[in-house]
Amino acid sequence: MTSTAPIGVFDSGLGGISVAREIRRDMPNERVLYFGDSANAPYGTKSPEQVRKLSDAIVKRFVEQGVKAVVIACNTATSAAANELRDKYDIPIIGMEPALKVACDRGHGNRQRVIVAATPLTLRERKFAVLMDRFKTDHTIFPEPCPGLVEIVEHGQLDDHDVVMHTLHQYFDQYDLSTIDSVVLGCTHFVFYRDYFRELLPDTAAIIDGNEGTVRHLGVVLESLGKLSPEDADGGIELANSDTSTQIAQLAQSLLDR
Ligand code: SIN
Repeated sequence: MTSTAPIGVFDSGLGGISVAREIRRDMPNERVLYFGDSANAPYGTKSPEQVRKLSDAIVKRFVEQGVKAVVIACNTATSAAANELRDKYDIPIIGMEPALKVACDRGHGNRQRVIVAATPLTLRERKFAVLMDRFKTDHTIFPEPCPGLVEIVEHGQLDDHDVVMHTLHQYFDQYDLSTIDSVVLGCTHFVFYRDYFRELLPDTAAIIDGNEGTVRHLGVVLESLGKLSPEDADGGIELANSDTSTQIAQLAQSLLDR
């Protein structure tokens, strides 16, 4: 059994496009409806209640569009809203998780020093506290809220080397980076900063994001339900945004093509 229905993917703005790209790469026959809520970005500095309300409105719209699954391509919305959305809607809802396990497993039993870069709300929510509890005895974990990195993407400044490096230095100069084993990118916007993090960090430090794990999980869930698209189906990504300006449309397209 297969299904040609689309997959709904949403984020507070443009960061989740990094997840949509990963879906396109891994599952080229799938059709993705991407919704960025740039008019309301960032989510990471909002209250959990606000994020839940915004996320619910987006999923409701996806359900009306007949999606077969939803990917919350936003760590903040996953932390604040995933459980409630799963209770309310009768389709698979896949969320993000900072890839802390992947970072800690790299040590093969040796203590790892890991920075988790995410939004303030992601790091304050219970989901992250539970994750920390699992790993903090055996590893040294530094949660680092970086809301400015979301704004740079949303404002189309990602190619401004000076602005980006200045912002990264503001967050990370407090660490002796030569002692850090990995940086976990716990926000889908941050995946677009990989090259900048590479410039900032010593070669020995890994940069880890959760996109691959999330997309793999999506594939497993769809396969178990018999809902993967047939191999001859035409996949693709349709971009929509709550900010209907031409500037945002161009920015979204450029991130998709990047
Ligand atoms: C934000 O809107 O603050 C970022 C969303 C995320 O955590 O991916």
